[in-house]
Amino acid sequence: MQSLAAAVVRPQAFRNTVRTFASSAARAQAVPTQKPVLNKEFKIYRWNPDEPAKKPTLQSYTIDLNQCGPMILDALIKIKNEMDPTLTFRRSCREGICGSCAMNINGQNTLACLCRIDRTVSKDTKIYPLPHMYIVKDLVPDLTLFYKQYKSIEPYLKNDNPPEGREFLQSQEDRRKLDGMYECILCACCSTFLPQLLVEPGRVPWPATLMAAYRWMADSRDSYKAQRKEKLQNEMSLYRCHTIFNCARTCPKGLNPPRLLPRLSSNLPQIERSARLYCMERDGLILNASDLRH
Ligand code: SF4
Ligand code: FES
Repeated sequence: MQSLAAAVVRPQAFRNTVRTFASSAARAQAVPTQKPVLNKEFKIYRWNPDEPAKKPTLQSYTIDLNQCGPMILDALIKIKNEMDPTLTFRRSCREGICGSCAMNINGQNTLACLCRIDRTVSKDTKIYPLPHMYIVKDLVPDLTLFYKQYKSIEPYLKNDNPPEGREFLQSQEDRRKLDGMYECILCACCSTFLPQLLVEPGRVPWPATLMAAYRWMADSRDSYKAQRKEKLQNEMSLYRCHTIFNCARTCPKGLNPPRLLPRLSSNLPQIERSARLYCMERDGLILNASDLRH
């Protein structure tokens, strides 16, 4: 019986062996297809603090897009690794999580790791650091003011009677109240897009800061809501928002800081209305200008 079973199995094994040889032979003959060269020009802002007398310039680099990853960050890494090691920029996660690679790409503040390279080779791509900021070097802005403001709203849980020896629990419903805020990665794309920064750089409250302030007020575990709200009731806080919505348009995480401003004050109906209209416009619900009058 045993020799009969072996006789049945052997032809199948033999066929498998033949097929394996045939496919490896075909593989050996296959000629790798060479992708055509697709050269694209990148113009990148350069400034070196070691040469302060030299004005900032736009330096040009040409890359074959078929030898590069699909994102702007891939192009920057390729330039730094293969063409110019002096090019300076921040990056870390490469996943849109850390916020380090925020910069201005073709006029839009965004994250280089989430921004696809436009494959139209007849158009160059211009890359600048985040606008309205002092520059440390090349594409690296000085975010000291941004972090200083963020620190001023005390961005951590404050509660004088936290539960002892166990987790500080929150219901699912309360947790959902933080949606649309906790996702902020502090990239500063929104905040550096404000035109007011040109005239009042250190004083204008930045959208990410205001949103973070409300994020802690909305947290069911925080017991300093009234104090947090009170701190924002001054002419240099909420009331400097002109509802231009640049911040919401540019946020790479799709967040909408001005939407929350009415909740920080009961006296901002015009911001609430503008925020509602902005969302409707973005979602394609406003079809023509006459809809805006209602
Ligand atoms: S709100 Fe958006 S753009 Fe502003 S810091 Fe947060 S993630 Fe960045
Ligand atoms: S590298 Fe972290 S967000 Fe782009």
